[in-house]
Amino acid sequence: MPAERGMESTGTSSQGQQSPSLGRDDLERSSRLGDALCREVAKRYIGPTDNTRLLLAALAARGHVLVEGIPGIAKTTLIKTFAAAAGCRFSRVQFTPDLLPTDITGTHVWNAAKNQFELHEGPVFAQIVLADEINRAPAKTQSALLEAMQEQQVTVEGDTRPLPSPFMVLATQNPIEQEGTYPLPEAQIDRFLAKLLLGYPTPQEEERMITTYGSPIAPTEAICNPDDIIWLQRTAEKVHVSDELRTYLLSLVQHTRSSRHVYLGCSPRAGLNLLFASRALALLQGRDHVLPDDVKSLAIPVLAHRIILVPEAELEGINGAHVVSEGLQTVPVFARTRRG
Ligand SMILES: Nc1ncnc2c1ncn2[C@@H]1O[C@H](COP(=O)(O)OP(=O)(O)OP(=O)(O)O)[C@@H](O)[C@H]1O
Ligand SMILES: [Mg+2]
Repeated sequence: MPAERGMESTGTSSQGQQSPSLGRDDLERSSRLGDALCREVAKRYIGPTDNTRLLLAALAARGHVLVEGIPGIAKTTLIKTFAAAAGCRFSRVQFTPDLLPTDITGTHVWNAAKNQFELHEGPVFAQIVLADEINRAPAKTQSALLEAMQEQQVTVEGDTRPLPSPFMVLATQNPIEQEGTYPLPEAQIDRFLAKLLLGYPTPQEEERMITTYGSPIAPTEAICNPDDIIWLQRTAEKVHVSDELRTYLLSLVQHTRSSRHVYLGCSPRAGLNLLFASRALALLQGRDHVLPDDVKSLAIPVLAHRIILVPEAELEGINGAHVVSEGLQTVPVFARTRRG
């Protein structure tokens, strides 16, 4: 992009400068929106603000997120509150073993008055779709979401329809329930921009939860609307990424392919997702350029879930996050070393 050329040479040299296509107003509007949304979600979801910001960065990067955690850790609460605060049309699909693909996409029904079949749109025709306990339905039903997630369209009995914009799937899964679950196929896993792991709250958070829920909570307010989200998505594309950071990002991805613990490393889609998410995260913090810390903080959520380990590594208790951490420790950030 010619507009960026002047800033390519020194990595983080764009610090303090305005991107030619991003004005101060854009940056202020983005960070205000991000902060306000995090504050609104925090009224109901008690946990790290970074979790909410990750969901918003994924939405701004046109991505989908897999949310994993034990029962009762607020997966559904976080997602429903986030969708309400983002002001997006929300739907929820409870995945069960007997769920059919058409229960997600929709089906044609006979309209006697018009003497024709019409598509009765399924719950996938929403802006934020909660696919709750996605690993409780068999692969055939899970794959009904595949086309939707990648193509932003669905085909029902030969009839292809576009999905609304923005469009995001937030799927939850429970890591400990093995019985009666169907692990997501690799192809499906790779379509999630990020995986968010929800852990136990701290004692202080748990205390705050008891206090908060001890009295009625006001309904979540929409702090923006779908047009604001679309604006955020377009604006994020203008955030500057230096050549050095692109190289760093790709080296992190390549590390996942060359590690001795790995059977199958990250796809090229993973690298693109890391780039898009880093831009979105930078924008939400009011920056017109990506910093190494943006990439670093997103590397595990964006890359780890896609890595398939060799059996020996699994037996040793190594997981995808370990492999990415190893990359973060060993791959040099050129922009940093040059400046330092
Ligand atoms: N960190 C938290 N912040 C706010 N509420 C919480 C938190 N953790 C648990 N809760 C409360 O616990 C209850 C269960 O939360 P929720 O249904 O969101 O969990 P879940 O992870 O979706 O569980 P499941 O796997 O059983 O569906 C809710 O009433 C929720 O308000
Ligand atoms: Mg739930």
